[in-house]
Amino acid sequence: MSEPLILGIESSCDETGVALVRGNELLFDAVASSMDEHARFGGIIPEVASRAHLEAMIPTLRRALSEANVDLSDVDAVAVTAGPGLVGPLTIGASAAKALALAINKPLYGVNHVVGHAAVDKLVHGDFPEKFMALVVSGGHSSLLLVDDIATGVNELGSTLDDAAGEAFDKVGRLLGLPYPGGPHIDRLAREGNPAAIKFPRALTSKKDQAKHMYDFSFSGLKTAVARWVESRQDAGLEIPLNDVAASFADAVADVLTAKTIAACELHGVDTLVVGGGFSANSQLRDMAAERCAQAGITLRIPPIKYCTDNGAMIAALGSSLVAAGVTPSNFDIPVDSSMPLTVTHV
Ligand code: KG4
Ligand code: ZN
Repeated sequence: MSEPLILGIESSCDETGVALVRGNELLFDAVASSMDEHARFGGIIPEVASRAHLEAMIPTLRRALSEANVDLSDVDAVAVTAGPGLVGPLTIGASAAKALALAINKPLYGVNHVVGHAAVDKLVHGDFPEKFMALVVSGGHSSLLLVDDIATGVNELGSTLDDAAGEAFDKVGRLLGLPYPGGPHIDRLAREGNPAAIKFPRALTSKKDQAKHMYDFSFSGLKTAVARWVESRQDAGLEIPLNDVAASFADAVADVLTAKTIAACELHGVDTLVVGGGFSANSQLRDMAAERCAQAGITLRIPPIKYCTDNGAMIAALGSSLVAAGVTPSNFDIPVDSSMPLTVTHV
């Protein structure tokens, strides 16, 4: 008998995602983004995103069903992002998922978006080992997770105390006069620059900080350091070497993320690292993670970029793991939770 067919719905930020997954197989992943509508504001406007989800949800669902060549009545369970994320956008997805599950009389699973960023890798690289480390980095999250079981055993070792990695890139992008989102632009400039040109700070890496924040990150001081450095050059009437600033800044972020992650793998005896989230597109992070994992004998799993940014496949993937683990489905009165704890895989 074939494995259950899971419909996954994602709407926590600016991407409306609907996907169909059977076991570890992705049948189709349909995504509609409202990023273009936010770009001119320099950030995501929740009400604009909510309206875009409302408009895109059913067309995206129809596209996913038709491309996967399945009927809604073939679906065995509906998984939806219950948090963390923006309340309005989450509510649109959760409402749609509840209505769909009710209409087809199938179970509903309200799942954790951040855990989904790690879960999606099983669709690309297959089943997870018994224990692995997951680094989830995007515009909204920077978290280090120790995973015993993607369905039921996720431990949060650390996270950012302030800005997420992508958010820090976007803010530095703004101060360097780059278009929003600045992350990919800084990446491009950094590839032409010297990462050792400017020594920017590595927060929470001193002995004293490590004692309390061994696996936490902080990027807001780094962003301020870049701003001060740029201002002092401007005040002195000097040119800003954009490539070197970008490369030195990107190097500081990648250095802290990878150093802490590899240390966590070594301390917990874990030999597999999954990296997910939109920021895993970053070249400096990818290169440094590949190099340091190879040195430490750690298998590095990073899905292709289209599965690292927000999508329905990650939610369907986690839903499929929950169903396989025999987890009790969610009640139909579940709320959405903008700050859902990362240890909660589902509600
Ligand atoms: O996962 P995602 O699409 O949305 C969120 O959930 O945040 O991640 C988008 C974030 C943005 O902050 C964007 O600037 C950043 O990831 N990003 C990058 C790169 N590509 C995307 N940052 C640095 N380098 C990149 N190549
Ligand atoms: Zn995300």
